[in-house]
Amino acid sequence: MNITMMQFQKHGDDRGALVSLEENKNIPFEVKRVYYMYDTKPDVRRGFHAHKKLKQILFCPCGACTIMLDDGVEKAYVRLDDPTEGLVVEANIWREMYDFTPNAVLMVLASDYYDENDYIRDYDLFLQHVRSKGRMQ
Ligand code: TYD
Repeated sequence: MNITMMQFQKHGDDRGALVSLEENKNIPFEVKRVYYMYDTKPDVRRGFHAHKKLKQILFCPCGACTIMLDDGVEKAYVRLDDPTEGLVVEANIWREMYDFTPNAVLMVLASDYYDENDYIRDYDLFLQHVRSKGRMQ
């Protein structure tokens, strides 16, 4: 499956580094929500859902974690370990996150507010959903 990674400009000087994220500029949607996961315990695997409409960009500004993406046909694996890189996750993609380093911060920019009705949390229902969408196209 196709993976879209975005590379963001690092404003670096001898004090350190800075990355700037701006909606509808280098982030290709209106950012309605930012959330982040940190202090993730060893061996935790989380996510286990897809969204019907939500778009997201995932960053690891500190530490690293692995993201598994699944479009219902193929799986892809991305190690997020560079604060200047973002992983685009479109709607209708199942995701799982794991192998967090102890210092990992997984930050997510989302195109909409939190809405439990937008979640698909059952893998079999996810497969039914993407297959029915495929038939409609
Ligand atoms: P959860 O959906 O279990 O995280 P993940 O599936 O990514 O592992 O979210 C954990 C809790 O946080 C759950 O009670 C819902 C809540 N939550 C919010 O209140 N707002 C949010 O924006 C998100 C992402 C989660």
